[in-house]
Amino acid sequence: MASDLLQQLQAGPGVPGHIAVIMDGNGRWARQRGLPRHAGHREGMKAVREAVEGSIKAGIDILTLFAFSTENWQRPASEISALMALLEAYARKEKEELRRQGVEVRVLGELDRLAPDTRRAIDGIMETTEGGEALRLNLMISYSGREEILRAVRALATEAAEGRRKPEEIDHKVFEKALFTGGIPDPDLLIRTSGELRISNFMLWQLAYTEIHIPPVLWPDFTRQDLFAAVLDYQKRERRFGRVAAS
Ligand code: IPE
Ligand code: IPE
Ligand code: MG
Repeated sequence: MASDLLQQLQAGPGVPGHIAVIMDGNGRWARQRGLPRHAGHREGMKAVREAVEGSIKAGIDILTLFAFSTENWQRPASEISALMALLEAYARKEKEELRRQGVEVRVLGELDRLAPDTRRAIDGIMETTEGGEALRLNLMISYSGREEILRAVRALATEAAEGRRKPEEIDHKVFEKALFTGGIPDPDLLIRTSGELRISNFMLWQLAYTEIHIPPVLWPDFTRQDLFAAVLDYQKRERRFGRVAAS
């Protein structure tokens, strides 16, 4: 079945270069089984592997995963520490395998808010995987789209106030470089699992013309087949970017 979908998408009109994912539904997955929320987060790690390996198989260049939002700091302390422990374990355990697979990992967000142990684990996975050419994996941690925009505005305003930049020079290119995602092309496809029809402060600038796919599957149940199905859905879309359709 999986290989059928993969063959279908390989025969299609080109795959998205950049896929972004809001990995949602871990808590509901756990609740349905009478388990604590952290059990859902733990199970979600398997889905991360599926998304990474599926992306490599499908020939995706960049995969961006929303792992923890700035607003998620308002969750109970016990859930936050379980999530951070899982993140550290992922970084430590998977870095060699990711390097072997040719995955280059970058962690983007307000990293100054993370504990020293978490920072070390993140630095470790980025160093170990540096130079990987099969897939670029962006992990968005302590990330918020509005905060990202504000940080960029503050940095550019400071440069202007200090006379290092003329305000009229601030165009799309300059602004994009000041975002956490500077140098990374916008996502072509956004997947949000668990059926929630909202953006939740994710990549507000970058998603301007991104195609959106929202399957009902809860993140821990997400497999590479779900990724392939999302790409097939994307291949049916007509991207117009505000222009009229070619006839
Ligand atoms: C997504 O799952 C993971 C994070 C936001 C860290 P949730 O924890 O939001 O799961 P639900 O939405 O409560 O099911
Ligand atoms: C968005 O999911 C954040 C991540 C997936 C990391 P949330 O579960 O936090 O978003 P809301 O609260 O449902 O909008
Ligand atoms: Mg959620």
